[in-house]
Amino acid sequence: MTGQSIITLLQSLEAALPAWLLLAGACIGHGFLMTTGLNVLYAWPLSHNVLRLTRKIDILVIFLGPVLFFYALDFFDTRTLQWRPDSLRGYLAPYVILCWIAGFVLAPLAQVLYWLRRQAPQVAGSARRTVDVARELGFKPVGRGKRHALASLPGNQVFEVDFHELTLVLPQLPAGWNGLSILHLTDLHLCGTPDRAFYQTIFERCMREGVPDLLALTGDVVDSSWHHRWIVPLLGRLRWNIAGFAILGNHDAWRDAKAIRRRLARTGLDVLGNSSRRIDVRGHPMLVVGHEGPWFTPNPNLEDSPADAFRLCLSHTPDNIAWARRNKVDLMLSGHVHGGQIRLPLIGSIFVPSRYSRRYDFGTFFEAPTVMHVSRGLAGQHPLRYGCRPEVTRIMLRTHSDKSLIGL
Ligand SMILES: [Fe+2]
Repeated sequence: MTGQSIITLLQSLEAALPAWLLLAGACIGHGFLMTTGLNVLYAWPLSHNVLRLTRKIDILVIFLGPVLFFYALDFFDTRTLQWRPDSLRGYLAPYVILCWIAGFVLAPLAQVLYWLRRQAPQVAGSARRTVDVARELGFKPVGRGKRHALASLPGNQVFEVDFHELTLVLPQLPAGWNGLSILHLTDLHLCGTPDRAFYQTIFERCMREGVPDLLALTGDVVDSSWHHRWIVPLLGRLRWNIAGFAILGNHDAWRDAKAIRRRLARTGLDVLGNSSRRIDVRGHPMLVVGHEGPWFTPNPNLEDSPADAFRLCLSHTPDNIAWARRNKVDLMLSGHVHGGQIRLPLIGSIFVPSRYSRRYDFGTFFEAPTVMHVSRGLAGQHPLRYGCRPEVTRIMLRTHSDKSLIGL
């Protein structure tokens, strides 16, 4: 398409559609392209500083877009100005067209696909109880984190934790595993806000409600080097009947991973890294796999692992779903994306650091042969939660034979 034909196309669209609609379409498309680009970029194992800088630039560009379009579309008088390829308006024309394609076609299509996502058919029950930790404590455990002021913003749900009871029916389970429970914790982001009392309250409640058979901690344990010292006193309170496992996430990779692993090991957790363990669960084998990629490499190698064992994978990011499917993982537990942290009514999440963008922002998905649960996690680097409460998940595994639970 030549420059002149682009201009001609713009002029015909301007003549056919009202200016406000063209401006709205361009702004929506621009926002869609920028946020999707940022989401995908954040899936890459780039340095913390590069990502921080990119995020700031990206957000600036998002807000700059409407100003440019206002000029490029000559919002006040679309008919009187002549398009000139050598003017700024001319140079902006290809990008404006791209934004219209994104705004009028791609973004609505992506939104419809997002609404049509199906929960895994293996989910036989999903119940959430919200506990307002601030009310339970009698004060807001804001703490002294760098961004503590955000935690006190009106309507912020950062202290309202969903205790999620998830029942999964998996046909491949040995009969003896009916009722096996897994407590899934992820994304603690220990950095001062929320304060220690927040985590203590949650972990004590988890233990009061029943010691799980297995415990899975799927990374982003700390977000400040100073708060390494919270790991042992907080996580040391957790118990399990059979085994407890932990992996690290990208934020741990930026905060002295070796030291975090040492402290986690002191709590009794088996720190998997990118490796696997074969354990005995009620007389049957289970292969528990850690996947910390892409931030820690190489990926776990399951070539010589027993094929008959049930495969449980702890992967910080849901992006490892393709790897899990190739390696015949039965159940994968993930965090990392925090549900987007801010979810708009109808639209849902916006910023989701994943190569799949918003596709796996939270929930339980089935990509044969893998069932994947993505938790919204407990906290985040920024203590902000709107329409997206923190989550602790207790997973109950059931076999097909337990018909009372699945209504058969
Ligand atoms: Fe995280």
